[in-house]
Amino acid sequence: MSFSTIQKSLPPHLQRLMTKGEYVHTGMLIIGGIFTWFFFNSYFSFLAKAYVTLRVMKCLYIISKSFVVHRVMPEMDISHLRDTWTVVTGGTDGIGKAYTLEMARSRGIRRFVLIGRNAQKLTIIETELKKDFKCEVKTIIFDFDGGDWAELTNELKDLDIGILLNFAGLAPGMVGNLVEQEEGLASRIMQVNTISCVRMNELVLPKMIEKDRGIIVNMSSMTGLESRPGFQAESIQKFESFQIYTWV
Ligand SMILES: NC(=O)c1ccc[n+]([C@@H]2O[C@H](COP(=O)([O-])OP(=O)(O)OC[C@H]3O[C@@H](n4cnc5c(N)ncnc54)[C@H](OP(=O)(O)O)[C@@H]3O)[C@@H](O)[C@H]2O)c1
Repeated sequence: MSFSTIQKSLPPHLQRLMTKGEYVHTGMLIIGGIFTWFFFNSYFSFLAKAYVTLRVMKCLYIISKSFVVHRVMPEMDISHLRDTWTVVTGGTDGIGKAYTLEMARSRGIRRFVLIGRNAQKLTIIETELKKDFKCEVKTIIFDFDGGDWAELTNELKDLDIGILLNFAGLAPGMVGNLVEQEEGLASRIMQVNTISCVRMNELVLPKMIEKDRGIIVNMSSMTGLESRPGFQAESIQKFESFQIYTWV
């Protein structure tokens, strides 16, 4: 049964309504068609496709770069730094601990100065380095939040430091602004993550330049590339780490 047969069988007022409905229907189809055409063929579609392509390319670039760095490029030769001291902040836990053990395991580094607040945690990694890799280890108990820098400077001043690994860091336990976060946390993050990082660089860099050798690793994060709401203090510090990298 065709549309017009149904229409003719209806009372006149319904016939008019159906005619109008047909117009509305056709109108909607035209608008939908125009919208679809715009979406798939227009400038906006070009932008959408360009954006998706860019993200995919960026992802592929990161994957291939990491493959090239880890599997293709020759390892950086750091054998000339094996007899110097490697100073580690934040080496008692997490990434810093794993990195320190890896430096001993795969890069043959044998002399470490570990800086941390917690004597027990320092002893755990000290024992591991000594037992498993026959390393020489010094530990310094120091709190980057309020510790006496003159004392730390004094402890390090006579050491031939070849490598500095800066991992000490605090992160907010929850996402939130200054008022929502635990009181004083943002300024502590600045103190422990930012000021300590810059000061450690200031401590070791002049001698490294004088001796024309040395490596500094300052830990950063994705939050340093893109500020995230609720992570501002961390973002500022991590952005600063990227800046130190270009600065050094
Ligand atoms: N975890 C992640 O997903 C991630 C991602 C990107 C970047 N990062 C960065 O990587 C670094 C390490 O992160 P993580 O997750 O491995 O941290 P973690 O497991 O919490 O370890 C933090 C380290 O920092 C030390 N530390 C903290 N406050 C200190 C203070 N006031 N004085 C001296 N030392 C202090 C701690 O030593 P003691 O407690 O022994 O004193 C510990 O060794 C941080 O800078 C962090 O921002 C982490």
